Amino acid sequence: MKGIILAGGTGSRLYPATLAISKQLIPVYDKPMIYYPLSVLMRAGIRDIALISTPRDLPAFKALFGGGEELGLNLSYIEQPKPEGIAQSFILAKDFIGTDSVALILGDNIFYGEGLDKMLSGAAELKDGAEIFASRVVNPAAYGVISFNKDGKPLCVTEKPSKPASPWAVTGLYFYDNTVVEAASRLKFSTRGELEITDINNFYLSSGKLKVNFMGRGMAWLDTGTHEDLIKASTFIESIESRQGVKIACLEEISFQKGWIGRETLLKRAVKMKGTPYGNYLLNRDAEGLWK
Ligand code: DAU
Repeated sequence: MKGIILAGGTGSRLYPATLAISKQLIPVYDKPMIYYPLSVLMRAGIRDIALISTPRDLPAFKALFGGGEELGLNLSYIEQPKPEGIAQSFILAKDFIGTDSVALILGDNIFYGEGLDKMLSGAAELKDGAEIFASRVVNPAAYGVISFNKDGKPLCVTEKPSKPASPWAVTGLYFYDNTVVEAASRLKFSTRGELEITDINNFYLSSGKLKVNFMGRGMAWLDTGTHEDLIKASTFIESIESRQGVKIACLEEISFQKGWIGRETLLKRAVKMKGTPYGNYLLNRDAEGLWK
């Protein structure tokens, strides 16, 4: 399975913070926002990953990750000249996807929770159809929202409904079989001028091939849309990291646990960041004998 991180857009809701840099490079507590969605794809076992962003911001992502070798990844970069919709990812990444299935994650989506790994490894096995993840929210009108029939089966997804049919929002993490490439090429622009991911989801839903994974109370899906959301997300990550002494979205740790990089590569990166909480975390865990 291939992976795509969509990390473009203008970030205009966060101006002036994003006037000169990508929203997805802004830190959420102690690391760039993009680390969180990248860690989700890695935890799903996906190593072939394309990062899609604007012509302005791609060089900064390249400077951050390069070809991904030090993280045990094979990273490539694709330009999205204009933010013409999330579903445009599959058109832009057609050659990259080839004949594979593909997981797409939005570069500003943060997930955290105990059951996540199990859900991810299930979805990463997908060969036929689609899997999406839904989370209960208090403000569903801001998202794609799932409506259900009387037996509780998903009926349809509506993008930013004025009267949401349920509190269940579609999160920015999607797994599709290879049909998605053709389905995306047949999409028409919506009234807001975008190729909508919701239209893709409804395409799979209407053919009975959409599995919805409902995230329970033990799972957090965090917003990063406003400055207030960003502070809350940072505080959330900080609370867990400082209380438990673990790091969320520590890419080197995940890669090591997956067996993609060895101790030497991990330590090389740790030394580069020595003296920071992130670097010291990797070094202290080495002292505890964890990287064996
Ligand atoms: O976060 C989940 C929601 O994401 C879903 O519930 C919605 O169904 C889905 O449409 C999307 O909602 P938004 O309209 O709020 O997405 P937004 O335009 O904020 O874009 C999400 C991220 O993707 C953002 O960081 C920018 C990036 N993006 C977006 C578009 C439309 C791109 O890189 N290129 C694009 O063309």
